[in-house]
Amino acid sequence: MNNSTESLNANRPDIITTEVETISFYRKMDTKATVLEMIEGKYVIVEEYYSNGLEVLAELKKNLLKTYTDKSFKGQREYRSAFREASHRLLIKVVDNKLPLKKAPSIGWLEILYPEVKDFYISYPDVQGMNSSWQWHKKGIEIKTLDLSIYPYYGTYFPTRFDHLKLFDKWLKKYDGSKEKAIEIGVGSGILSFQLVQNGFDNITASDTNKNAIIGVREEAKRLGFEDKISLNYGDLFENCEEKADVIVFNPPWLKAKHKLEEGIDKAMYYEDELFPRFFEQAKQHLKPEGKIVLIFSNFSEVVDKETPHPIIEELRNSNRFRKDLHLRRDVRASSKRTKRTDNRVNEKVELWVLAHKKEK
Ligand SMILES: C[S@@+](CC[C@H](N)C(=O)[O-])C[C@H]1O[C@@H](n2cnc3c(N)ncnc32)[C@H](O)[C@@H]1O
Repeated sequence: MNNSTESLNANRPDIITTEVETISFYRKMDTKATVLEMIEGKYVIVEEYYSNGLEVLAELKKNLLKTYTDKSFKGQREYRSAFREASHRLLIKVVDNKLPLKKAPSIGWLEILYPEVKDFYISYPDVQGMNSSWQWHKKGIEIKTLDLSIYPYYGTYFPTRFDHLKLFDKWLKKYDGSKEKAIEIGVGSGILSFQLVQNGFDNITASDTNKNAIIGVREEAKRLGFEDKISLNYGDLFENCEEKADVIVFNPPWLKAKHKLEEGIDKAMYYEDELFPRFFEQAKQHLKPEGKIVLIFSNFSEVVDKETPHPIIEELRNSNRFRKDLHLRRDVRASSKRTKRTDNRVNEKVELWVLAHKKEK
């Protein structure tokens, strides 16, 4: 993979730059008829008001739910896939990197992610995704306990609950080993690397398989004045990293994938079969003799997927590489005080595991 992060091009939604045959949709038009055309494969373009698109999507949902009545996992997946396909035929015309519709949000990504083109068509759901990401990026996420705000880049994982950061902070405050070198795998929006810097690590190498994470953390590190302390690698695990570290940190995806993983943010949530064995094998080579591996995990995976064994427990049980140095757990609080936890995340706990080399006898 490319190691030069300056030349990375961000992952971004596909756009159409040629003229396409479309049906215009204005308020008070026949939404049902428009949706039928969309399902048959025609492109529809949202005109006049931004909210007209919402009306079409609501009708599309209603229509497809009449056909996709199977409530099983498979049935629901088929419904989502049909919705995804048809809804992406609902387009907005972008002019001068803006949405020329009444009451449309202003979305900076339309310019930042498409520097080479001003006018194009983009799907309405992609605009919705960009809008939500832009709001987070503009507003930032304030992490009070760390006295830090982060401004996540488009298509990058970012935390909305902070219990794992508090656990990591607690561990860092007590850590009294060498702080010469740290490696972070899966840097995301950079928060764990920033915590490492805040706690005295001046030489961090951080990797991610998501280009947008690398581009975003490069910008964030500059903003925070950390650019000399964090080297970024766009790549898999320890690829392009020759060094050995005192501390290796990884907040991995927590759920085992049952589907083929896509490029980008998919790999923040789901892991493929061999991710953990590969990580542990390579971490063994990159950890100094007295070094520590810090892994953040959640019992959430056990709640939603009882069949998949806990990958860290598996490693400790089945291989001779590492011993457990510490295991901390903490209840996960709801993201907002008003959020009632009636779902199966009620008993969710976040875990921090610290592993060290198993000493030879
Ligand atoms: C759960 S997110 C954690 C992000 C961040 N460290 C945090 O704690 O907020 C996991 C991250 O690991 C990255 N990732 C997944 N597989 C990877 C791999 N094989 N090599 C490097 N990064 C990977 C994902 O792209 C994602 O950014």
